[in-house]
Amino acid sequence: MFISKLKLINFRNYSSLDIELHNKLNIFIGNNAQGKTNILESIYLTGFGKSFRTSKDKELIKANKNMAYVKVEGEKRHGEVSIELRLWDGKKKEIKTNGLSLTKLSELLGNIYIVIFSPEDLKLIKGGPAERRRFIDREISHVNRKYYYDIMSYNKVLLQRNNLLKNIVYNKKLLKTIDIWDNKLVEFGMKVIFKRIEFINRLNALSRLIHRKITDGRENLEVKYLSNIEVNSKSIYEEAFKDFRTKLEKRLETDIKRGYTTVGPHKDDLGIYIDDKDIRIFGSQGQQRTAALSLKLSEIEIIKGEVGEYPILLLDDVMSELDINRQNFLINSLRNVQTFITITEIPQLMAPLVKEGNIFEISGGRIIAKDGNFN
Ligand SMILES: Nc1ncnc2c1ncn2[C@@H]1O[C@H](COP(=O)(O)OP(=O)(O)O)[C@@H](O)[C@H]1O
Ligand SMILES: [Mg+2]
Repeated sequence: MFISKLKLINFRNYSSLDIELHNKLNIFIGNNAQGKTNILESIYLTGFGKSFRTSKDKELIKANKNMAYVKVEGEKRHGEVSIELRLWDGKKKEIKTNGLSLTKLSELLGNIYIVIFSPEDLKLIKGGPAERRRFIDREISHVNRKYYYDIMSYNKVLLQRNNLLKNIVYNKKLLKTIDIWDNKLVEFGMKVIFKRIEFINRLNALSRLIHRKITDGRENLEVKYLSNIEVNSKSIYEEAFKDFRTKLEKRLETDIKRGYTTVGPHKDDLGIYIDDKDIRIFGSQGQQRTAALSLKLSEIEIIKGEVGEYPILLLDDVMSELDINRQNFLINSLRNVQTFITITEIPQLMAPLVKEGNIFEISGGRIIAKDGNFN
């Protein structure tokens, strides 16, 4: 798919912006703090309904204004798509797809497919398990609304079970009701676990290939789902189900003492290894960066496999962080994918490619030049 138009009103440092996009490559160039990432952020917003930088809509609204507006128009396999968002200070945001208002944020998923690669993605490797779970959940939800529903339901049940655990201390009678929550927790939990395993198996196969290419066959990347439930890709549903249930019972005393649930997919992690060594501990900065790139590029193919068309790709400030070989590999992987790049200067390597795209020069929340027509 690709997007052809972007319109902003009072978004971040843009009073108004209305641009036509190239269906292969769009480069946003400019000094720091001029509004390059803001543009990618606005596009990201139309895919996920939230920013990758903040959870507060208010920050996205231009200072001293009360509403921000973002619209993209694009083309997909099955026709045209338009997304409009209105963000308000102190009121729920309004979202329209093809002119129709949505009642739930989840309805937005599956309209615009996006893969983003930014320096933040190193967190995926360096950060804690919660960071990696967020990555997994976001990526699956993006192309699978049912998963989004399952993980939301799981989190809701978890919250209710945790509240119950806290109350049991004061009222022992409540213990009788824990079964209801345990059943639900296991029911949704199993759906979450199995879908995550399926996703990670695919991620593993693809990222392994990509990583070998990037490193000229020198490194073997492996990703594994690390679950606290006895489960692997070969185990049967019933066994895992039983294990989850048994562990909940065994840990009940501990859970009551702590006031929260200590077992379940909300405690799982993604293991990332190069040549069998945990990259978080043993990986160099460069290896970690390359692994993050391999995982992100795999997502492009996963989405293609899942929905039958390529997502758009947002690359925020990543070119300068990669060495020549990796830049080269990245650029060569972009052929089928509409790409948006922010950059402070164009590396030599990209110069030939640039002919196939638009360059927007950004300064102070405005486009001051396009395609080298500096005025
Ligand atoms: N809500 C807002 N209202 C006005 N300006 C904002 C708002 N949020 C961010 N900015 C401004 O946007 C600029 C940063 O934009 P950004 O896209 O992150 O820069 P870069 O070009 O370095 O990627 C800063 O000048 C910041 O002050
Ligand atoms: Mg930036």
